[in-house]
Amino acid sequence: MKNRQNIFLIGFMGAGKSSIAKELARKLRMNIVEMDQRIVEEQGMTINKIFEEYGEDHFRDIESQLILDLGNTEPVIVSCGGGVVIRPENSQYMKKSGKVVFLTAKPETIFERVRYSKDRPILNGNMNVEFIADLMAKRLPLYEAAADVVIQTDGKPLSVIADEIIKAVQG
Ligand code: S3P
Repeated sequence: MKNRQNIFLIGFMGAGKSSIAKELARKLRMNIVEMDQRIVEEQGMTINKIFEEYGEDHFRDIESQLILDLGNTEPVIVSCGGGVVIRPENSQYMKKSGKVVFLTAKPETIFERVRYSKDRPILNGNMNVEFIADLMAKRLPLYEAAADVVIQTDGKPLSVIADEIIKAVQG
């Protein structure tokens, strides 16, 4: 395994990035950076609060800075925020400092995973399959442009998904 580079897991909210990051980290003995969690720790406030107080653009600035910083650390598995691909420069930086793995899931699967979540400002007040499917379709070209590898996750155990990723990034 050539793991001298970051592995960035991208995909829509609820695509399984965090769970798959844990499984990958266990198999590859690498550390994880959970972007949202890192941002919450560094800013000392929740994602909801950052959106509310300073707006989405400010959150995206913080996100971009974190992506840049990750190019200068030891290789880690990065569980990215679902909107990280909105800024094309983020996708370029990710490609430069590692492999980008796009995790896909059906809107219905996503909805089941996120429906009771209150800490995703983009979905607050929009918690339905239609909104999710719409936003996912809008973002799809961005995810695809950023991705080195695309992994479909519906109905697969975490271990199988992790093995597929390892095989794909090894090549
Ligand atoms: C966002 C996804 C969230 C978080 C923020 C915005 C998005 O991350 O970064 O709420 O725009 O898709 P998760 O994908 O980890 O839920």
